[in-house]
Amino acid sequence: MKSSRIIGTGSYAPEKILTNEDLSKLVDTSDEWITSRTGIKQRHIAREDEQTSDMAAEASKKALEMAGLTASDLDMIIVGTISGDMPMPACAAFVQAKLGAKCPAFDISAACAGSLFGLSIADQFIKTNAAKNILVLGVELLSRILNWEDRNTCVLFGDAAGAFILAPSEKESRGILSTHIHTDGDYTNILTIPGGGSISPMNEETLEKKLNFVHMNGREVYKFAVRSLTSVIKEGLDAHGFEKEDVDHVVPHQANIRIVDAVLKNLKIPKEKTVLNIDRYGNTSSASVPVTLDEAVRSGRIKEGDLVAMMAIGAGMSWGSAMIRW
Ligand code: ACO
Repeated sequence: MKSSRIIGTGSYAPEKILTNEDLSKLVDTSDEWITSRTGIKQRHIAREDEQTSDMAAEASKKALEMAGLTASDLDMIIVGTISGDMPMPACAAFVQAKLGAKCPAFDISAACAGSLFGLSIADQFIKTNAAKNILVLGVELLSRILNWEDRNTCVLFGDAAGAFILAPSEKESRGILSTHIHTDGDYTNILTIPGGGSISPMNEETLEKKLNFVHMNGREVYKFAVRSLTSVIKEGLDAHGFEKEDVDHVVPHQANIRIVDAVLKNLKIPKEKTVLNIDRYGNTSSASVPVTLDEAVRSGRIKEGDLVAMMAIGAGMSWGSAMIRW
């Protein structure tokens, strides 16, 4: 069986920046509270005329360029998002049109774990020879689905897009070694957008109760995230008989610095091995892992032969990891 590898990465973040100081003028919060509880200093916010698929297309173009491919070389586009251009059709269809690609294109809904779930799906298609070049995106325009009067949520998130391009690997020992994905539907209630689906269709009451925005039980999400990310990285290491010392870089979902710190402490992996940018982006949900990977690749931090462990968790709750020999 073939293995797949990432041959291109790309990312995009809107120009406008909202600092903690700016936020403290909108809601009752402070730079001190946000920084000490989350590690976030600022986040990017999309322009009014900018759409989710616009951001995705920008990140994709950079990834295609790095891969030395054009849109017509793509066999599939998979978009992890919970904030697409419209509930229907898929954001991936808008992205396909903007790139000028002619391949199957679909979205997956695994919230912050969306790009890792997409990576896992793409890996299976390539391994089984069913596709050659696959564009996987994590993209979120969360600023439009946040309640800007709710300090519990609005301080945490930002807008961005990140892309991976997967292609067959020449050597089986190089590229994506394994992916591990999970969902526990007993926890659907701790992180939700409750309105706009079959339970609370979009109507006046839904809007009045602000059910069309992100709702979160922060403490429960925190506990679940630390527990499941620790175990899914262990699962990835154990699948190959790796020890924690074998890991060169951890590329985590940037949800909250305290979640990342607690997971690293549990795994006894030094913080220096972790790629962090939460201070500049906040939590960009499914975009977080590909944006972080792109920065680490382009800066030369990740080098050929390095072992990279990626991890993400989001609403569902859904979570996963990927072990990659770069
Ligand atoms: N500014 C100031 N005060 C705030 C803010 C804010 N932005 N938000 C909440 N508070 C207040 C609360 O109202 C509460 O006040 P009270 O004691 O008077 O009731 C107080 O701060 C303490 O609230 P806690 O919930 O105890 O704060 P905690 O230390 O748990 O931190 C946080 C909250 C940061 C949300 C934490 O629970 C957390 O990190 N959870 C993980 C959530 C997360 O990362 N979600 C991201 C999305 S999911 C994902 O990507 C996996």
